[in-house]
Amino acid sequence: MSETGELAAAIEEVAALLGRAESVLFITGAGVSADSGLPTYRGVGGLYNDEDAGPEEGLPIEVLLSGPFFQRDPATTWKYIRQIEEACRGAQPNPAHAVMAALEGRVDRLWVMTQNVDGLHTAAGSQNVIELHGNIHRLRCTACDYRTSVRDYSALAPLPRCPDCRAVVRPDVVLFEEMLPEAAVAAMLRERARGFELVFTVGTSSPFPYVTDPVIQARRRGGASVEINPDRTRVSDLVTHKLSAGAADAMTRLAAALRR
Ligand code: OAD
Repeated sequence: MSETGELAAAIEEVAALLGRAESVLFITGAGVSADSGLPTYRGVGGLYNDEDAGPEEGLPIEVLLSGPFFQRDPATTWKYIRQIEEACRGAQPNPAHAVMAALEGRVDRLWVMTQNVDGLHTAAGSQNVIELHGNIHRLRCTACDYRTSVRDYSALAPLPRCPDCRAVVRPDVVLFEEMLPEAAVAAMLRERARGFELVFTVGTSSPFPYVTDPVIQARRRGGASVEINPDRTRVSDLVTHKLSAGAADAMTRLAAALRR
């Protein structure tokens, strides 16, 4: 069978699984938002591996965007966080986000567990979203309880300060070497303990165990798992179905197959 024929057949199989499943987990990464025009972290045009546009400070981006570095030099970390925010600015959800949101109305129990900080799953209408790495639109004070939300960073000072206590304000995102947010971890563990009949990873290079574990868990239980990614990743050989396609394309085709 040709590659396109194989993909078409796999889409039909996965749509049939989706049509029957009572519980579905979508684990998503930067590739889902690539179809909204956002850069990914890794791969072609990725923020972290574009050698020509390397950080001026001469340090890897993983250091500049780390919790310990932020504590030493918050202004520099803010500079790089702003670049990420600028790359997200004005982005709209794409059909991949929209189809996942619409599926919530069809599947008894559906969760989206995302590593993305762009807020596009909730913007698309998904309710059951676990934002494992936080959300770039939320800001919080590093010293007091002050919290706020912003549409973008255009009106923020280079080093934003808390209006209540003047301490440095930071985005409510997980920096390198920081713990995941407690509430998100609790939600993830709670839902994973309930198990999922069908697990998808979509647009992620799957660098973390919390992305690969649900796929391994599904495999152990004899359940189905699907990877949607034009490239191969560390879960490609673990999933039962590999859809080598972009997220918006694959999700649109899955939705069409489900309607048939
Ligand atoms: P990555 O940039 O590591 O991976 C993006 C994946 O999306 C790659 O495997 C691409 O092949 C794939 N991709 C590209 N375009 C796509 C498309 N149109 N449709 C589907 N897939 C596509 O991003 P993440 O896996 O999200 O964490 O990275 C995970 C975490 O690593 C990030 O949340 C960030 C980073 O370090 C923190 O900052 C804490």
